[in-house]
Amino acid sequence: MTSTDAETTIRQLQKQNRILAKQLKRSEADRAKLEDFNRDKESILKRIICELQESQSVLEKKGQDLEQTLHELTLTQSKLVEAEKMAALGALVAGVAHEINTPIGTSITLASTLGDETKDLVKAMAQGSLKRSRFQNYLKVAQNCAALLFINLDRAGQLVQSFKQVAVDQSSLEQRTFLVKPYLMEIITSLSPHFKNTYHQIDLVGDDTITLNSYPGAIAQIVTNLVTNSLTHAYGDGDHGHITLEVCAKEHYILLRYKDDGGGISEQNLSKIFEPFFTTARNRGGTGLGLHIIYNLVTQNLQGQISVSSQPDQGTQFDIKLPVHLKKN
Ligand SMILES: Nc1ncnc2c1ncn2[C@@H]1O[C@H](COP(=O)(O)OP(=O)(O)OP(=O)(O)O)[C@@H](O)[C@H]1O
Ligand SMILES: [Mg+2]
Repeated sequence: MTSTDAETTIRQLQKQNRILAKQLKRSEADRAKLEDFNRDKESILKRIICELQESQSVLEKKGQDLEQTLHELTLTQSKLVEAEKMAALGALVAGVAHEINTPIGTSITLASTLGDETKDLVKAMAQGSLKRSRFQNYLKVAQNCAALLFINLDRAGQLVQSFKQVAVDQSSLEQRTFLVKPYLMEIITSLSPHFKNTYHQIDLVGDDTITLNSYPGAIAQIVTNLVTNSLTHAYGDGDHGHITLEVCAKEHYILLRYKDDGGGISEQNLSKIFEPFFTTARNRGGTGLGLHIIYNLVTQNLQGQISVSSQPDQGTQFDIKLPVHLKKN
């Protein structure tokens, strides 16, 4: 190698060295930039993690609050149900007091009239001034008073009897498993005296093998009240009424469908028929407790549901859904 060659090589090497030095500087700058970028990213990530942790604890707190609110709502709901029951009972007691007041008040007036008349009679007898006509008059008054006293006290007795049925004593109802249709047939047979001297007909349809574990006594009371209602309210004298009672098993319940083809119920009355003391037959001795008792038996004792559909002159239909197994209270 000549000295000129060596110089050229040195220059080339120096040039390469400068290029490398420049590249090194540039990549150092890039590395610094990258480090800056990474630092930024790290701090953003840290902030995000921090915010996420905060949100998580806020959510946890909210979840606990919601649980607490739900618990309080459940408590309030059961209190409301209790309050409603108490209000219904209060209204019922007030209604009974009001209903019983009339026959008792009349009886008091009658008893005091009888007492006054008797006192006058005794006085006249003591004075020796009792005339035959006066005595006959007294006898008439006494007989009248006794008859009216009997009617009014009997009415009061009936009211007390119906009131007792409203709060059906759980212990008086026996729970057992029974075949529904044959049992309904027994009830219908026991009601046959009511169909005597009428042209009405009652049919029972459905599967003979459907069984239910429930309170048969309550079902008897329900069917009896429904039939009595049809005979009292749905038909007029001489009508050829047709009543159907159908039983069918659905997936989780048993449907009892009761239907008459009588005069039906107006829209205005339909919304009130389950209320205690709602009756359109007060002058014929109706108390308005029959359907209220049915409602209580179905929804409380039998843990079911009852619905009604009716239109004037289109008959009335009651659908009663009963669970196959009762929940333990
Ligand atoms: N099958 C029916 N057809 C037409 N109206 C009915 C029928 N069932 C009930 N009603 C109407 O609903 C009202 C309320 O019936 P509910 O059985 O509660 O009382 P009630 O029969 O009048 O008196 P109680 O049953 O206490 O003797 C009746 O007065 C009547 O107007
Ligand atoms: Mg009735």
